[in-house]
Amino acid sequence: MKRLIAGNWKMNGLRQSRAEFLLLKRKLQPQDTDLNDILVCPPSTLLMHLTEDAQGSPIKLGGQDCHHKESGAHTGDISAEMLADAGASMCIIGHSERRRDHGESNEAVRAKAEALHRAGLTAVICVGETRYEREAGNAVSVVKSQVHGSMPSTTGGVVVSYEPVWAIGTGLIPALEDIEEMHEVLRDQLGPQVRLLYGGSVKASNAKDILSIPDVNGALVGGASLTAEDFYGIISA
Ligand code: PGA
Repeated sequence: MKRLIAGNWKMNGLRQSRAEFLLLKRKLQPQDTDLNDILVCPPSTLLMHLTEDAQGSPIKLGGQDCHHKESGAHTGDISAEMLADAGASMCIIGHSERRRDHGESNEAVRAKAEALHRAGLTAVICVGETRYEREAGNAVSVVKSQVHGSMPSTTGGVVVSYEPVWAIGTGLIPALEDIEEMHEVLRDQLGPQVRLLYGGSVKASNAKDILSIPDVNGALVGGASLTAEDFYGIISA
């Protein structure tokens, strides 16, 4: 299975960030993209610019969230169709920051995944336990129920990213055995076709170990995707 290395820029990036994207494009070697799909999810204000900048390269563009409806009176929201129109082929949904800041439920995430399929996009569904849930011994059951509740009933591309909330932006990562255990559970639940990513403090220095774990088919990278140098360090690991 081809790996997916995805960058989530979150609420970072102005027009000048196009320079980092162009630098990444120049750094990529054919063997990098033979082994990996590369996805960059910028803020939606930059999506069309980066779509232009990506011309002639295999880098894919994605959104960070979408509304579940196609259009209408939803101030500030962006539909899956709009993302597709701007050049996205994938979209992150259910990120823990969305679940926390916007109270997104599993049902809401599922509706978004179905909207992405309607627009022909692949849904990158994020799941992961909090520190409290892990310490209470509930990590596996929490993640299983998030997956169960968030999976679309429609057919279309789905990627699932396991992102322990306590590992995001903290520099902490779970023990490699804990990542392996969770990915085994996800593989059992989702079958052999679904790409399973790990996300949370992935850096060039830990990427090789994480990406060598069985059933880890790629990474979702936040902070270290913001510069071409750091992101390329992960890709080339
Ligand atoms: P991080 O973010 O790499 O900055 O920890 C990961 C994510 O939120 O997807």
